[in-house]
Amino acid sequence: SDSNVVNIVEVGPRDGLQNEKRIVPPDVKVELINRLGRAGMKIIESGSFVSPKWVPQHGYDDLQPTKPPSTQMAGTPEVLTRMEKLPGVHYPVLVPNLKGLENLLELLSNTVYNTLTDPSSSKPTTIPPTDEIAIFTSTTDAFSLANTNCTVSESLDRLAIVTQKAREKGLRVRGYVSVVITCPYSGKVDNKQVRDVSKKLLEMGCYEVSLGDTTGMGTPASVGDMLDVVMGAVPVEKLAGHFHDTFGMGVANALQALDAGVRTLDSSIGGLGGCPYSPGASGNVATEDILYAIQGSKYKTNGEVDLDEMVRIGWWISEKLGRENASRAGKAIKAR
Ligand code: HMG
Ligand code: MG
Repeated sequence: SDSNVVNIVEVGPRDGLQNEKRIVPPDVKVELINRLGRAGMKIIESGSFVSPKWVPQHGYDDLQPTKPPSTQMAGTPEVLTRMEKLPGVHYPVLVPNLKGLENLLELLSNTVYNTLTDPSSSKPTTIPPTDEIAIFTSTTDAFSLANTNCTVSESLDRLAIVTQKAREKGLRVRGYVSVVITCPYSGKVDNKQVRDVSKKLLEMGCYEVSLGDTTGMGTPASVGDMLDVVMGAVPVEKLAGHFHDTFGMGVANALQALDAGVRTLDSSIGGLGGCPYSPGASGNVATEDILYAIQGSKYKTNGEVDLDEMVRIGWWISEKLGRENASRAGKAIKAR
């Protein structure tokens, strides 16, 4: 039945790329997003409007070594204007503060929108670069200070204003809570804190809250315990699971979340990425691994997804980044 439809939020072009050392040019990001959309992804996180001073500066751009140092997310405006906007697909971007929202709104008002022609009509339709932002906070002040230079309560105050303004402009807003299991700076996290922060994000107007196991230290048991507490105050329909795969628990934790009733999972093509403020953390659970894991189960994806094409995309982007493909299913499927 419909209650077993799983929504996958493909976060590779943002969470994945933001922590990759080799900076790829907008062309590659545009092709990545276009291919993910054509392969069947319905929500593709496409970049961020964060301060370039805060997402680590990499030494130089391997692919364009004559250009000055930049950061992986700096090209987001160009990517948003050039990528293909498929009907029915959302392309959220991360926004940390009002400044980021203003930069996005300026882009939205200045862009000559992509014109796609609906094959069933003779009228061209214009589609704005994006209709969704994602805001983010965390459960601990230590992580919040490292990631956004303010405490959790200060960040909630800021984000309430950002959310209100974004919604006034017709954007939908997704919320993230980072470090829902363990914080790299303050250790084991209190599940009640996850619950309370999630509730506040929903109250300020987020349509969904994504629970981030940033360090990837969660296990099915600790994820299950955390979800029990959060679901005491927040409807499970409003929750998503965001699992980093540092300890190889990504798929197991994702299945645990599905068992608990969660129906939205964040994942990253090729298992790309990490988190700049979570030392040693590896990428998100690979989208290919999630797709493989739910094959033949009662769960199905929201729309057809072409797993073989996803595997090819995972290999292609890993090669572009000069990194190992972190999807186990991607490796195995290629080898057979
Ligand atoms: P701040 O230094 O306190 O900001 O940083 P500020 O307001 O004092 O401004 C300082 C300078 O930055 C100023 O420039 C601003 O104009 C500029 P200056 O006057 O010095 O030339 N600035 C900006 N520029 C561009 N875009 C902006 C922006 N804001 C200020 N939006 C701030 C505070 C929040 C901006 C900063 O800490 C920041 O950008 N943090 C984001 C870090 C980040 O991107 N982290 C990764 C994403 S979160 C994540 O990955 C977790 C997640 O995946 C879930 C999980 O796994 O847990 C979502
Ligand atoms: Mg993340």
